[in-house]
Amino acid sequence: MSTSTGFDIRRIGGRIGAEIVGVDLSSDLDPAIVTEINKALLEHKALVFRGQQLDDAAQLRFASLFGELTTAHPTVPSVDGQPNILPVDGNEGIRANHWHTDVTFVRTPPKASTLRSIVVPPYGGNTLIANSAGAYQDLPEPLRELADRLWAVHTNDYDYAAPKNDKAAEHRKRFVSRKYRTAHPVVRVHPETGERGLFIGGFAQTLEGLGPSESRDLLRIFQSYVTRPENVLRVAWTPGDLILFDNRITQHYAPDDYGDLPRLLHRVTVAGDAPVGIDGTSSRALEGGDAGHYTPAVA
Ligand code: SIN
Repeated sequence: MSTSTGFDIRRIGGRIGAEIVGVDLSSDLDPAIVTEINKALLEHKALVFRGQQLDDAAQLRFASLFGELTTAHPTVPSVDGQPNILPVDGNEGIRANHWHTDVTFVRTPPKASTLRSIVVPPYGGNTLIANSAGAYQDLPEPLRELADRLWAVHTNDYDYAAPKNDKAAEHRKRFVSRKYRTAHPVVRVHPETGERGLFIGGFAQTLEGLGPSESRDLLRIFQSYVTRPENVLRVAWTPGDLILFDNRITQHYAPDDYGDLPRLLHRVTVAGDAPVGIDGTSSRALEGGDAGHYTPAVA
């Protein structure tokens, strides 16, 4: 599809994902183009811009077009001298091979994430992105009614799988160096579209009012709808690509299938608001405070 501002939006997945062709992200983008990109983001949830070859400054500038930025991460250090950029470096043990939505352990997780490829392995190292609204729609009615009423506690500090090496162990230690716990609705109403999506993922560890075993089983069932192949886009990186995804209504996963080959992405995230459930109630921080050093509160 061609937009009125002259670029193409090509769907690359049945239920999620589009490639944007004909926009140079390093140029000063006209506000009308940014509006069209945001519209495409709301519709397709994940946008792929191939062969952009941006530097850090250009990635920061592009991400800022969608709102105020967060710092790199609540606990993990940024790229040297770039407080808003998280280095996703496989050699430093940063391998996000669990389904998650970015930073849901704080009360106001990012609205959107940009990932830019700098070094990519010759095979593997893809990023998978899932449509959590598709998952909600797929739930049979009784499960949907149950999900509508549930709240999940998200935390960065839980019983992770054993780290594979010293770098991964170091990363894990830093990741949990300050503990956060936040209660979010299991069904989040998207603040711009009103769409409902399952807001769970790897940091959602328990369900309020239920014990650990019921929580685990129910979360596993809900999560199985998110990760159905129908709901998942798989992006194979080439150097210089940029992905922009809506963190309010997606989850993602980076398969750890590239051994010791180098893989480096830079991540910049746009600050978000507090999730709201279908009864209009907002998320609550339970531990760790409001993470003000990480994210400005978006009204
Ligand atoms: C992330 O979770 O933000 C990183 C995703 C990736 O490594 O592809």
